[in-house]
Amino acid sequence: MASASRAQFSSRFGFILAAAGSAVGLGNIWGFPTQAANNGGGVFIVVYTLMVIGLAYPLLVAELTIGRYGQANPVQSLRSILPSGSRWLGTLLALVGLTAASCILSFYAILAGWLVGYFLSPILEAIGLTGVSQWLETFSIGRNLFLMLLFMWATIHVVKSGVAEGIERWSTRLMPILVLLFVVLIGYIFTQDGAVDGLKLFLIPDFSQIHPALIHSAMGQAFFSLSLGVCTMMVYGSYLKKDANLPRTAAEVALIDTAIAFIAGLLILPAMFVAQNHGVTIYNDDGQLASSGTLVFDVLPAMFDTMGAPGYLVASIFFALMVIAALTSSISLLEVPVAAAVEELSQPRNYAAWTIGGMISALSAVIIFYFDPLFDWVIVASTEYAQPILGLIFALLVGWIWHRDQVLAELQKGNPAIAAGWFWKIWPVYVRVVCPLLMLYVFFA
Ligand code: PFF
Repeated sequence: MASASRAQFSSRFGFILAAAGSAVGLGNIWGFPTQAANNGGGVFIVVYTLMVIGLAYPLLVAELTIGRYGQANPVQSLRSILPSGSRWLGTLLALVGLTAASCILSFYAILAGWLVGYFLSPILEAIGLTGVSQWLETFSIGRNLFLMLLFMWATIHVVKSGVAEGIERWSTRLMPILVLLFVVLIGYIFTQDGAVDGLKLFLIPDFSQIHPALIHSAMGQAFFSLSLGVCTMMVYGSYLKKDANLPRTAAEVALIDTAIAFIAGLLILPAMFVAQNHGVTIYNDDGQLASSGTLVFDVLPAMFDTMGAPGYLVASIFFALMVIAALTSSISLLEVPVAAAVEELSQPRNYAAWTIGGMISALSAVIIFYFDPLFDWVIVASTEYAQPILGLIFALLVGWIWHRDQVLAELQKGNPAIAAGWFWKIWPVYVRVVCPLLMLYVFFA
């Protein structure tokens, strides 16, 4: 158990914005809308929402509960719920989790770096620095390294300042700005011709698209979007005060995350069709909608270019929004190994943030140098395998290994009446049986 002086989020609101900040990221803004567009629009939205309610939400409660019970980094938190003979398993799982979080950060920082480039580029172009502006938008090892390091520097800078002063402070500043930028951009895009066609593609269900792969995509998207499986929510939960009502707090985080994914769909797909109206090609030769990467880095910038002077502004606002979303996620990823190093290895936070941030930057650099073989591989290994498999294991630990009375006692701290309510009647057996079976079904179907 942690010492009384261990850092905490200063308020429940601060926690919610930080956890929602972790959840809301590139997965929401460019993953969800393009997945929806390619998987039957409204059909995907419904299946995804069911996945969030039926699978991701119960697991989010599980991760937060483990963290808050342990009041420590994932190594100690996971050890604390295991019987004394098998604590090594907690250490092992936490190490796998923090390695996976580091791998996610290593590719996330490359993507986010490009977004930083696309944010700066229109500003530099507007002030006449055309050469630099073009360099920032052109794929090269030098540019990728420079922008990744810039983004990692910002991430380290927040995490080194600690939970309340760094993570909470920046999340509560950035999340409202994110929502404001969304409102501005959606308001703008709907003044443009073609926006309604994008809205139709997003919302109108195409029932011919219901197939097992759709459910698999929705599950992966829900896991990635709610930052599950790699101990981020566990470590954030460990900084949560004991009087916080965990099921309710988790529901609020899941709701904000899902709402923002939905709002992103109201922006991205209409923007795509506005781009088409401006003469930009949005379909591939085989009739498929452009991939999410093409969309963000080719289609939308091409559209901004056709807009004349206001295009610079709209482009910068759009990429600022993406960078903010990415930053509030990347800080949660870096916090996982940093919390472990601070508590398990007694390192000063500042030192841990710089050394671990430096090591993850080195990993990113290796991916940049060997981009073709490594980039997709790291994404698939960390998000399609590590996240769901660890999530499954956490569900099994909470459902089968952790003592039921201890789970209840932890949940009662923020909600004394919980034992008599519907949540406690459903959730334990749900996490024990339904979540693992559902996940195994989706994996193997
Ligand atoms: N949830 C983030 C997104 O939607 O972009 C990504 C992410 C953050 C995944 C933190 C995993 C994680 F631990």
